[in-house]
Amino acid sequence: TKRIAVLTSGGDCAGLNAAIRAVVLHANTIYGWEVIGIEDGTRGVMERPMRVHPLAPSNFDGHMLRRAGTMLGSVSTGDPFAFPSPHGPVDRSEEIVTGLKDLGIDGLIGIGGDGSMQILDKIMQRADLPFVGIPKTIDNDVFGTDTTIGFDTAVTVAVEALDRLHPTAQSHNRVMILEVMGRDAGHIATHAAVAGGADVCLIPEFRYSIDGVVEAIQSVGHHGRRFSLIVVAEATPKSDGTQAMRPRPGGGERYGGIGEWIGDELEKRIGADVRVTTLGHVQRGAEPNAADRVLASALGVHAVDLMAKGKTGRVAVWRNRGVGDVSIEDVVSNKRPVSADDIVVRTALGLGIYLGDVPL
Ligand code: F6P
Repeated sequence: TKRIAVLTSGGDCAGLNAAIRAVVLHANTIYGWEVIGIEDGTRGVMERPMRVHPLAPSNFDGHMLRRAGTMLGSVSTGDPFAFPSPHGPVDRSEEIVTGLKDLGIDGLIGIGGDGSMQILDKIMQRADLPFVGIPKTIDNDVFGTDTTIGFDTAVTVAVEALDRLHPTAQSHNRVMILEVMGRDAGHIATHAAVAGGADVCLIPEFRYSIDGVVEAIQSVGHHGRRFSLIVVAEATPKSDGTQAMRPRPGGGERYGGIGEWIGDELEKRIGADVRVTTLGHVQRGAEPNAADRVLASALGVHAVDLMAKGKTGRVAVWRNRGVGDVSIEDVVSNKRPVSADDIVVRTALGLGIYLGDVPL
């Protein structure tokens, strides 16, 4: 029998357990393969003793299909090729390669974003073992797939938040600003803006002006509505191009604060009564919705099929209402920002949502 390993790497999102489950069910019950779960991304095979355990269909009898997070853990390792140590970064990739070989596996399925894929691909080439990736991230910015595991659920959370901000906006004639995640991409923001009835949606991909935002709010007023909803993606720069950043506890910085900055500008310019909500990590921890469970299951099954066919260095993707695969090189060397011709962008424009300067 074949033996494969599975791991999750990078930020958690809804649907990871559903994907692990699909890998185990398909590999085990259809192909008769053994499946080993590696804990905490590559860290589980970097440390000694290794932290790995067999996974069987019975591990998924409970609520794993619908549980958020990842049963395998995803503690950040940093880059194993430049792993943090008291004496500066060290290359610890060889320990991972040895660990994987010691497991006696015939291949690895890695569930991660583009950053993780790059690292895993490099390691698997060194180990000379087949690798298949499954794309996950709430940000939906992975090249080659229409959607990534976790995105749809994150959008649902953002839309629920807008639905709950709407009554306060309406009751108090306020401008309510919702800052959403998405790292460098505005996919969560554009989808949430359309589904949640926002008037303005600001994302890193399109330039905007505060004049434009003011005009959009005023034009809503001309139509008799005295409140508005604004969605802003966390990595959207200020209108002068500089980035709003928040300190990270323990040091460093992360995206954030653009919602407050826009709020301040609107108070200054038009005396608007503004409140800002930063949604943060609640976008990651909801139970996967049905769409994410279907996607995670389809990609898990397809990844195992790719492995069975001997296709390696591929990423299982969802495109044109079906599964497919693209090369890891394509995934790691391309980005997928929101583009002007995305249907969600065209729809937002069609609804009169202000998105800044969108090329026609
Ligand atoms: O990539 C997923 C994501 O949630 C981004 O949207 C966000 O910018 C980032 O991760 C937050 O990272 P962390 O969990 O390390 O704070």
